[in-house]
Amino acid sequence: MSRAHSPTTPESRVPRRGDVIEVLVEGLGPGGAGMASVAGRELAIRHAVPGSRVRATVTGRRRGRLEGRVLEVLEPGPHSVAPRCDHFGTCGGCAFQTLAYPRQLAELQRSLVSMLAARDLLRDVAVEPVQGCADPWHYRNKMDFTFSNRRWVEADEPEGARADFALGLHVPFRWDKVLDIRACAIHFREADALLASTRELALEQGLEPWDTKAHTGLLRHLVLRKGFRTGEIMANIVTAREAPEALEPFAAALLARHPELTTIVQTVNTRAASTAIGEWERVLHGDGVIHEVLLGITYTISAGSFFQTNTAQAERLLEVVREEAACGAGDVVYDLYCGAGAIGLALAKTAGEVLGFESVPAAVEDARRNARANALANVRFVLGDVLARLAEEDDLPAPDVCVIDPPRSGMHPRMIPALVALAPERIIYVSCNVQASARDLPFLVAGGYRLARIRPIDLFPHTPHVECVFTLERRA
Ligand SMILES: C[S@@+](CC[C@H](N)C(=O)[O-])C[C@H]1O[C@@H](n2cnc3c(N)ncnc32)[C@H](O)[C@@H]1O
Repeated sequence: MSRAHSPTTPESRVPRRGDVIEVLVEGLGPGGAGMASVAGRELAIRHAVPGSRVRATVTGRRRGRLEGRVLEVLEPGPHSVAPRCDHFGTCGGCAFQTLAYPRQLAELQRSLVSMLAARDLLRDVAVEPVQGCADPWHYRNKMDFTFSNRRWVEADEPEGARADFALGLHVPFRWDKVLDIRACAIHFREADALLASTRELALEQGLEPWDTKAHTGLLRHLVLRKGFRTGEIMANIVTAREAPEALEPFAAALLARHPELTTIVQTVNTRAASTAIGEWERVLHGDGVIHEVLLGITYTISAGSFFQTNTAQAERLLEVVREEAACGAGDVVYDLYCGAGAIGLALAKTAGEVLGFESVPAAVEDARRNARANALANVRFVLGDVLARLAEEDDLPAPDVCVIDPPRSGMHPRMIPALVALAPERIIYVSCNVQASARDLPFLVAGGYRLARIRPIDLFPHTPHVECVFTLERRA
């Protein structure tokens, strides 16, 4: 059992904010935090690896549970392995890389079981083992890096090292600081060199990074994407204004160093909010899109549209959804929150008709283009807020199967009665945030559905996130 050791925190009293304690991390909790128990209370510690003993500080309390963060790993635990990445410990990106991969999968499954059991969802159904990645390294086909004028200075750096330019990832709990990423063990292999060149050229050409406080500077984000099955690579440079006199030579120099870039896009975001989603785009090289192939279907992906970030596992996900949807030639399928149509197009090969619903115009354009390019004539895409469009469109055929793949926040609460009212035979809920789906599922069960299968797939190795396919069948 875990014990509190700090002289400032006697074991018998509930720790308070700021207390430092030593604990054994016993498992994973909601949101992927490591869970320990202290003085009869649960303590959720972000980025703490199960099996390890850590020194942690208590940062607060939420919903009756204490929260904390790791200060030091005292003992790594029986399933610990050496980290691959030099940035491990500073970058918050893949907190689980010191946990052996098979153990990561077991822990993800264990946390899913406890989360769903707590909602009384496992009476008649078991959680299947998490399907792991054959190669859990360099799997990401997309990375979003941030430019900043506040670089995170590492402990071993010489005095006076330049700190007014960074291109990398935010340091956990320090949204004002960006860690320069030199190498990353999970993004696609060409990305390290692209990142280094972008940084060097921006400095050489005197392009200023965005200042999130003063709202000055030009360069905001660099989003790198690759089609693993086509080899096409996109660099999307997100800027605060158009500035063609600066961007055109910058893109030309980047291309001269990296002819492997098949397209370079500029996305302009003049708003204060720090996001890679912009107001308009300019294509600086190539045709502004890349392509990826999943299950024999070619997908066009533009800078603004969502696409699963792990190509190999996205294909596995599509196979699972296809098995669960079990569509026949007479079936009408709704693909709700369809993005660029990845799921709907995969189902269109066997279904009678597929209708996709999506709010991002670029994604719908991609989806339509994808349907045409793959000669799938039985697919339609409806642009707009899914809830509003379902309410407005009164001549749609009733669905036999609904696939829902909402964003991380889960479904809008009003979406659940809307889905139940559609009364499909099967609902396939694809979730990248099992906490949100665990909240939504009891309402679907109460609405007349039986949870028939739970099939998790690891799309995000070395992180506490897991994708999960829940199949619900309408009770007779
Ligand atoms: C997790 S992604 C799923 C995309 C797609 N199913 C796939 O596998 O590529 C969620 C999608 O929902 C879209 N979205 C978010 N809120 C929406 C809403 N209210 N109505 C319609 N689409 C929405 C997002 O733009 C995004 O493309």
